[in-house]
Amino acid sequence: MTRSGARAGGVWVRRIRADDAGVLREVRLAALADAPEAFWRTYDDEVARPAADWEVRARLGASGDADATFLAERDGLVVGSVSAHTPSAARDLRELAAMWVAPAARGSGVSDALVTASLDWARSAGAAGVRLWVVPTNVPARRMYGRHGFVTVGGPEPVTDDPVVKVYVPMLLTLDETAAAADVGYGERAFSPWSPPTSGSD
Ligand SMILES: CC(C)(COP(=O)(O)OP(=O)(O)OC[C@H]1O[C@@H](n2cnc3c(N)ncnc32)[C@H](O)[C@@H]1OP(=O)(O)O)[C@@H](O)C(=O)NCCC(=O)NCCS
Repeated sequence: MTRSGARAGGVWVRRIRADDAGVLREVRLAALADAPEAFWRTYDDEVARPAADWEVRARLGASGDADATFLAERDGLVVGSVSAHTPSAARDLRELAAMWVAPAARGSGVSDALVTASLDWARSAGAAGVRLWVVPTNVPARRMYGRHGFVTVGGPEPVTDDPVVKVYVPMLLTLDETAAAADVGYGERAFSPWSPPTSGSD
């Protein structure tokens, strides 16, 4: 990955820019309209959000080691995105959220390029591991994450304030096994409960 992005198989993955708020809104709404069952937030909540919220999200995702959003583009069109943030109870981990690939672009390596960009970023941020939460029946997502080394580390857990009472299973990829093994608190932090990111990127 270069400073500005990475190209693989005709897909260009780049970090979001601070002025990409409109693009971020568009891709998030497309994801929520397409796959509402996969995400904690709802289309109705997000479509009502003011422009200022999207500007904050884009700005947070554009720089720094705490949050990041990546966009996948092909032929000039955005065909996927993923966000990452730092869980408040586990500052040495990063959490992936809002992974989405447009239906027409699935099965072509877009999700791999997005995960690879996120993991590269997490490594360069010095994270010990990366975790995520996925709906148990989401077989394509679980297989895709598994291909990148994520393992399921718990059973289904309800998100109690979820209006449709979705359940998720946690998956974890430890980036630095040696450091994690030497850190007695790593396991506890890695398995700490999910909490919505302040940046709203789930
Ligand atoms: C999850 C998602 C990002 C994966 O992207 P993708 O381009 O489809 O990824 P892949 O083509 O690598 O497919 C992933 C795996 O699921 C398999 N798969 C694809 N469609 C499937 C289906 N309908 N049933 C079962 N397995 C399926 C693929 O064969 C692949 O498995 P493999 O690694 O063993 O070959 C994409 O499907 C998506 O955006 N889904 C809606 C949103 C979502 O679920 N996000 C994840 C939230 S945690």
